[in-house]
Amino acid sequence: MPFSTPTPGGSPERWVLIVRKPLDTVTAAVSTVRRAFLYAALAALAITLLLGIPLSATLVRRLRRLHHAALQLAADGPPVALPADRRRDEVGDLARAFDVMQRRLQQQEEARRAFVSTASHELRTPLASLDGMLELLHEDLGDADPDLSDARSLLERARTQSRRLARLAADLLDLSRLDAQVHLRSEPVELGELSRAVLAEFELGTEERGIISTLDDSAGRVWACGDPGGIARIVRILLDNAVRVSPQGGEITVELRNGGQASVTVRDEGPGVASEEREVIFERFQRGRAAAGSAGFGLGLAIGRELAERMGGELVLERTELAGATFTLRLPVATAQEEEPLAVV
Ligand SMILES: Nc1ncnc2c1ncn2[C@@H]1O[C@H](COP(=O)(O)OP(=O)(O)OP(=O)(O)O)[C@@H](O)[C@H]1O
Ligand SMILES: [Mg+2]
Repeated sequence: MPFSTPTPGGSPERWVLIVRKPLDTVTAAVSTVRRAFLYAALAALAITLLLGIPLSATLVRRLRRLHHAALQLAADGPPVALPADRRRDEVGDLARAFDVMQRRLQQQEEARRAFVSTASHELRTPLASLDGMLELLHEDLGDADPDLSDARSLLERARTQSRRLARLAADLLDLSRLDAQVHLRSEPVELGELSRAVLAEFELGTEERGIISTLDDSAGRVWACGDPGGIARIVRILLDNAVRVSPQGGEITVELRNGGQASVTVRDEGPGVASEEREVIFERFQRGRAAAGSAGFGLGLAIGRELAERMGGELVLERTELAGATFTLRLPVATAQEEEPLAVV
């Protein structure tokens, strides 16, 4: 570093300051730091291995247990003992989700078994009585002088049983289609037109018993969004029940309403539904007290509710002060209301 100092003579004296340091000290510092880094890295690696190996071994063991349980579940079905894992981490969450899935599968399996056993029992009863009647008919007609009036009555009873079987088969087919998630149409349906068509199907039966059925369409045209066949099926189920429980000369009202949702209400003057039966009657093969003595399988409302829910709506039993029962089907309102009503399937 050059510098100068003043002198009494005038011209300053010039100097140069030189500082010298040997490079050996820098190299030593670098190698110290490098060694320190190496030791630190080795220590970190050792700690990681010490902690990591047992941790990952535990994780692998827990995952492997779940893996075995999943394979066993696939091979033997839902009643498989799952490894209990209560730890609050991701693997624990996975084990708990697995447990929920297994319980749900088990419930579905039990429901399926109960359904198959009830359905086969319901099929066996009319089949056995049909077989008995045909046997008797066969014996009657084998006589030298057959009793034709007895044969005719047997034949009529056999036909009733075969119609009962056909109806059960149709209901079971509907349920299996719903279980298989068969696609339902989603289109604008005019509920007035549809209700009129379904009411007409019941005319003969209602006239015979002096039942008055009326359609209240004072709300104007009510457009719902759904499957025309499915909606008609639900209204048919409700009317079939209403006609069955109605007393001689009773009144059945079908009421259409517009609002947040499009609705069809079917009201009758029958015995109504007991409060403890309000929800049970919507389950498969469940019949209430009102059905005592009448033919049926307890499938109508179960099919109706499932269909309604699959169309984004609901089928409920209303709470009213009125005597009799009031069932309402609510469906999403159709947006394309300018379209022409569709034919009822
Ligand atoms: N309008 C009603 N009034 C009183 N009880 C009713 C009415 N509709 C249904 N229920 C009760 O709900 C039960 C279940 O009805 P659902 O339509 O599911 O079966 P079901 O009519 O007995 O037989 P299915 O419809 O299969 O021939 C009936 O057995 C009956 O007890
Ligand atoms: Mg019914």
